[in-house]
Order: sequence, then structure tokens, then C-alpha cells
Amino acid sequence: MLCSDGTKKLSFGGSIKDGDLVIVYEKRDVMKAVKVSETSVLQNRFGVFKHSDWIGKPFGSKVLSNKGGFVYLLAPTPELWTLVLSHRTQILYIADISFLITYLEIVPGSLVLESGTGSGSLTTSLARAVAPTGHVYTFDFHQQRAASAREDFQSTGVDSLVTVGVRDIQGEGFPDEYSGLADSVFLDLPQPWLAVPSAGKMLKQDGTLCSFSPCIEQVQRTCEALKSNFRDIRTFEVLLRTFEVHEGKIDSCQGEEGLSVRSPPCKRRHRSSEGSAMQDSSSSPTIKVRPCADARGHTGYLTFSRLQVSLS
Ligand SMILES: C[S@@+](CC[C@H](N)C(=O)[O-])C[C@H]1O[C@@H](n2cnc3c(N)ncnc32)[C@H](O)[C@@H]1O
Repeated sequence: MLCSDGTKKLSFGGSIKDGDLVIVYEKRDVMKAVKVSETSVLQNRFGVFKHSDWIGKPFGSKVLSNKGGFVYLLAPTPELWTLVLSHRTQILYIADISFLITYLEIVPGSLVLESGTGSGSLTTSLARAVAPTGHVYTFDFHQQRAASAREDFQSTGVDSLVTVGVRDIQGEGFPDEYSGLADSVFLDLPQPWLAVPSAGKMLKQDGTLCSFSPCIEQVQRTCEALKSNFRDIRTFEVLLRTFEVHEGKIDSCQGEEGLSVRSPPCKRRHRSSEGSAMQDSSSSPTIKVRPCADARGHTGYLTFSRLQVSLS
């Protein structure tokens, strides 16, 4: 999935090779991960696609079936992986993931401890954030889930950045060998407050902790546990509003944003290069932008805090 060579930008350089993982994109909500194999075919409602036709093409290519149908072959970024991975558990999605990576201040070179691993949705983005010199140590007490996550990290190419351990973090805490070494700790556990004392031991001075919980009662208990050893305790709920963009005709009564539903007021009025206000054309095809009907609502609460700086 990632090029973790420190001398290169993190990107999908070059073209699709035998053995690569690609995301086969039919439309926004129809995608699947496929491992390219020279002798295999992909069959869907658009016809039969030979993998051998894909090899050598750049990621992002449009490829044709025997019937002239087409799909796009996209690079397996963590964002897309989160949408296609097999759900062995509830997972974190990109709105929470992007917010928590920023708020935890995770950067290339960071050492991050995580539990539980679950389906590895967050772990994959953490791996990209710490690459090429950092590392994510992730723990789940469920042996089979840990094994499946390891396989996924291998096929998405982040395995050199992630170590998966099997351990009951609520019962035993994180292993002592990481004491005082972690830049950040992330918890997605049913009783995160039980892991807070261990997280505090693992963090460097000023290190950051985040706990994800779906229920506010869990948040309250976690905050109670954080009070003694952590400061700057803050809880967020990240609500994402997704819009779909497609070509269509705009009714003249819809206003400059072309929305047939209520939308927030537009603070800035866009002007054309000649300086006049842009005119809507009610007759010509134009781009329509409207909120998606299937937008995701509440996922959970993210509670952040920073380890108290000890004065000794
Ligand atoms: C909701 S899932 C985590 C999902 C993950 N954040 C993702 O984005 O894919 C919670 C995981 O915590 C694990 N878990 C529950 N209790 C645990 C414990 N005491 N120690 C370690 N892992 C635990 C479960 O097995 C499960 O896989």
C-alpha cells in the first residue's frame, strides 16, 4: 500500500504489478479490494476483466471488460482501505481518524501504542502517519482478529510499520518494555478507564492519549480515570457532512449554489475573472452539489488528554 522508503514521498509510484492490491471502483459505494494475479479474471455486471490487462497500467486507470464495460483501478490508500476492508468489528472511519491523528500530533517517526486492533482500519492510517521511521504497536486480546489484522497489514504493505500483539490490555496493561517511550496512546476498548493507568506509564512526558467510546457514560468514566495523571482533557464528537457532486440541470429558483435543499449561507460570493458576479445558467448542464442522503451520523466520542508533566 505504501512506499515506506524514507528517501521517497509516500506514494504509489509506478504502475500496477502482478501481486499488487488494487481497489476496483465501480461507483462511490461499489468498490472492492482485489489482489492482481496475471492468470485471474474479475467478473461483474459489466463483463469479464483480465488481470493481465491491468499489469503495467498506472493506478487510477480506466480498464475495459470483454463487453466494453469499465471500472477504475485505484491505489489502496488508507482512506479507500477503510471503505473496503472486511469488518470483523466496528471500525473507525476517516472523519474520526483524520481528526485524531492531527489532535494526537502523530507525525513521521512517532511511536504509537494502540488497543484494540479490531479490523485494523485506524492502524492502517496510523502506519502511514508514522512512516517511514516511526512504528505502531497494536494489541488485541482476540487471537484470530490479531492474526487477520497481520495478514491485512501484509497485503496493504504496512507490515514493516506495524507490530500486532495478542494481549488483554484492560487486564494486563501495555507491555513494560514500552514504558516512557510512547508519543501517543490510542484506546478503542469497551472499558478504556481500566487501561488509563498503563497508558500513563507508557507515555513520554507531554505524550498524548485518545480514547474512542460510543457512549457518553464510557466517556465520563474515562475522564474520571484521567483526572489524576492527565491534563487538557477534552471530548469531541466529529460529525461529517458529505456532499455528492454530479452533472445535472439547475432550476433557476435554486440560487447560486444549485441546491434543492436548504444549505448553509454562502459567505463569499464568487466572481469570474472579469470581476462580475458569476451567472447561473438554468438551461445548460452544470455541476450539482447536494448533501448525501446516506451520511454517517454519530460514531462515538473522542476524548483527548496529555500526560501531566512531572516536576521532579
Ligand atoms: C471496536 S474494535 C476496534 C476497531 C479498530 N479501532 C478499527 O478501527 O478497526 C475493539 C477491539 O478491542 C478488542 N478488545 C476488547 N477488549 C480488549 C482487551 N481487554 N484487550 C485488548 N483488546 C480488547 C476487541 O477484540 C476488538 O477487536
